[in-house]
Amino acid sequence: MKHHLARGRQEPRRIGNAAMVVTMLLSLCVLTYIKARYCSTPFPKAAEEMEVVEIDEDYDSTRYKITGPIGEEDYDPSRPTCYETSKRSERCAAVGDIRVDGNHSKIYISPLDKEWKTKPYARRHDAVAMDDVREFTLVPFGGANDTAVPPLCTRNHSVPAFLFSSGGFAGNLYHDYTDVLVPLFTSTNHFGGEVQFLLSGIKDWWLDKFTPLFRQLSRFDVIDVDNDQEVHCFPRIFIGATFHRAMGIDPARSPGGVTVADFKRLLRRTFRLERAVASRTGAPRRDKPRLLIISRKSSRRFLNERAMAHAAALAKFDVRIAEPDNHTDMPNFARLVNSADVMMGVHGAGLTNMVFLPSRAVLIQVVPFGGLEWLTRVTFKDPAKDMDVNYMEYNVSLDESSLRELYPRDHFYLKHPYDVHKKGWDAIKTVYLDKQNVRLNLTKLTNTLEEARNILP
Ligand SMILES: *[C@@H]1O[C@H](CO)[C@@H](O)[C@H](O)[C@H]1NC(C)=O
Ligand SMILES: *[C@@H]1O[C@H](CO)[C@@H](O)[C@H](O)[C@H]1NC(C)=O
Ligand SMILES: *[C@@H]1O[C@H](CO)[C@@H](O)[C@H](O)[C@H]1NC(C)=O
Ligand SMILES: *[C@@H]1O[C@H](CO)[C@@H](O)[C@H](O)[C@H]1NC(C)=O
Ligand SMILES: *[C@@H]1O[C@H](CO)[C@@H](O)[C@H](O)[C@H]1NC(C)=O
Ligand SMILES: *[C@@H]1O[C@H](CO)[C@@H](O)[C@H](O)[C@H]1NC(C)=O
Repeated sequence: MKHHLARGRQEPRRIGNAAMVVTMLLSLCVLTYIKARYCSTPFPKAAEEMEVVEIDEDYDSTRYKITGPIGEEDYDPSRPTCYETSKRSERCAAVGDIRVDGNHSKIYISPLDKEWKTKPYARRHDAVAMDDVREFTLVPFGGANDTAVPPLCTRNHSVPAFLFSSGGFAGNLYHDYTDVLVPLFTSTNHFGGEVQFLLSGIKDWWLDKFTPLFRQLSRFDVIDVDNDQEVHCFPRIFIGATFHRAMGIDPARSPGGVTVADFKRLLRRTFRLERAVASRTGAPRRDKPRLLIISRKSSRRFLNERAMAHAAALAKFDVRIAEPDNHTDMPNFARLVNSADVMMGVHGAGLTNMVFLPSRAVLIQVVPFGGLEWLTRVTFKDPAKDMDVNYMEYNVSLDESSLRELYPRDHFYLKHPYDVHKKGWDAIKTVYLDKQNVRLNLTKLTNTLEEARNILP
């Protein structure tokens, strides 16, 4: 089953496409989050609530703390130049005379035992994903038997280089965090900003989206290594990030002992998220917890979203509905998520936004019909623990699923989901992920929300 998740990225990639949409419940206005400030609403508190996310100008100049010595743990001469940090990631480390000729995907290194080839993206087990990742060749020069003639340096750097790729799934938030950002944090936080990022596979919108985060990790602008005509020279280089587990970090193995809690702190600082801890009474000056419903436009839609929002409002939740996508204004969306105490959504990449939730907030993953526990566990249930988010699930029964209308009651797909799983990922994806929408039972929803409220601090 190990390829299943790998290819799972294809489905959430399709979510929605307009700018981020936030629906202010009952006010019936659909506006961007920023505009929501000006939306006329029957809730007089709405404008005030937005203050929770006011920007503190001082944050800009503050960098995240340095947690360890620079690069020390990173270079162990007894290890091969390139080695696996897990089944999912290979990483190379070298010290010496290093010349990066990005335009030709070559890194000239002296001394180096032999030529190596590597793809700097933490998804080695997934051939489909790796196809989109550019391969770099490490070329030895200067040794007795080396024949390569390295190019002359046109830019000399005194800090180490860190080369990575945004990968083929850029834009799927789950993959952005799992395959790129968490491993990047694990591998570079301890440099304390003294590192030059070389990024391959750049898409401008993607780079723009995460630049605030990169700025926290490096005090230099990211170099687009695929399209740069310079020869950049460094005293050391790291290629590819360390991977521990999906959206997780094993502090026993991370430089400086960093944890996911440190990563969340970094995000809070990057996006100026003020709320550290969730609360049963919501943010200050509110008297109820906020429920954020993560909406989806194509597959796995909530068919009764408005009714759900209404039921939640009756259960005394302050409700927001939002759908993030590639072009969502990240800082604002992050602040919206951070303002929530409970976040709920059908299994999909949008739930990755839990990285912005305050501690002890509740994530409710709505699990579509079809025996998908294993998928929902590895993607969000297990990571939630590391994130200090309380995890709950809402299992969709057949009665709540649109599959009921597609197939007769005794259909193979409805009676034997695990046998469908045996046919492989494409079958699972087509039958249970792409073609299913859900209509939640409002009584069950209200009960679930009550339970969530009771878990909140
Ligand atoms: C997000 O970006 C990916 C990669 O470019 C693209 O395939 C996908 O369609 C985009 N999604 C949206 C919602 O625009
Ligand atoms: C970049 O590399 C390609 C071939 O790999 C070459 O055709 C092109 O001239 C190079 N560009 C520059 C400016 O060196
Ligand atoms: C160079 O190649 C020769 C012959 O293959 C070998 O004996 C020698 O050890 C090599 N030297 C180095 C420094 O690798
Ligand atoms: C970079 O450093 C090397 C070695 O010190 C020197 O020969 C070269 O001129 C420098 N290049 C630039 C562009 O500063
Ligand atoms: C959802 O289903 C899984 C698998 O059957 C089960 O382990 C879990 O307890 C269920 N959760 C709820 C809240 O019913
Ligand atoms: C909705 O859920 C409640 C509580 O779980 C249950 O008693 C009721 O039968 C469900 N309603 C429908 C229409 O399935």
